[in-house]
Amino acid sequence: MARYKKKSGSLGAVALIVLAAMVLSSVIGVALGNSETGKTPSGTPANTVEPSGTPSGNTVEPGGNEPGGSDPQNGGEQTDKPSSPKETALSRQDFTIDPATGLAKEIKVVDDNYMLLVNRTHPLAQMYKPDDMVTVKYTVSGVGVKGETDQLRKVAAEAFESMVEAAAAQEINIKMRTGYRSYEYQRDRLYNPEVKNKGEAEANKSTAKPGQSEHQTGLALDVGGESQKYALSYEFGETKEGKWVAEHCHEFGFIIRYVDGTKKEPGKLTGYVFEPWHIRYIGVEAATEMHQHGGSLTYEEYLGILD
Ligand code: DAL
Ligand code: ZN
Repeated sequence: MARYKKKSGSLGAVALIVLAAMVLSSVIGVALGNSETGKTPSGTPANTVEPSGTPSGNTVEPGGNEPGGSDPQNGGEQTDKPSSPKETALSRQDFTIDPATGLAKEIKVVDDNYMLLVNRTHPLAQMYKPDDMVTVKYTVSGVGVKGETDQLRKVAAEAFESMVEAAAAQEINIKMRTGYRSYEYQRDRLYNPEVKNKGEAEANKSTAKPGQSEHQTGLALDVGGESQKYALSYEFGETKEGKWVAEHCHEFGFIIRYVDGTKKEPGKLTGYVFEPWHIRYIGVEAATEMHQHGGSLTYEEYLGILD
């Protein structure tokens, strides 16, 4: 398990930060995943849990990013270990305050914060962008935005590349479609067009609202396999590549994040339909623990965060 890092600095600076943090708790709360605070720093409305359901079909978007989609630290000393996965998942972000406005102006990812929980009730602020992303080697060309969605946070990129190489050694060929997706990309290229095409209720079954997508963390990605020409499809889980991913991804620190709805009430726990292609980096330790529970344990259940 990775460890916390704390900022170093004078007592005065610490007191100032604490005071500012108290005054601005409503702003910061969203960045920390507290749905009770209501609004993001930029005024985005708080999120509500949407009805869930099953896929309307087995289609693959043409060159897009999700089925149904319309488009294809700070330094400091090492200190204590997190006491629980929940604490880890909710608290490990960092921010700076703009002295002119007194508001949070930049939210950074603490370097080892890879257990972050993002879902409908634990959204990210619009400004949230990881600062340690690198371009992934094995990507499907022509998907997403080059130089942007072909990135992941370094820890996830390296893990994925190792996974691709291990799979290739067994003649299983997989590639990343999209990895990091900005708030704006999720809004303009995926969610809004989906709502326009299908209506909000249907869109909400498979596409996250901006701020609610794990792709914004730079720790989640969509995988395509050679036997389906690296497209996304609901049948991915039945292909040899999909089966290999389900069986081995935990060895590299990944989980299949949106679990099979046939094993539990569809969409009840993750809020989304089964996505056999969407994997999320949480580290080998946690991913292996989850794998031992079988394929239907959700990350929310693992963390004990069901609100
Ligand atoms: N398809 C997943 C839920 C996303 O849009 O991030
Ligand atoms: Zn995805």
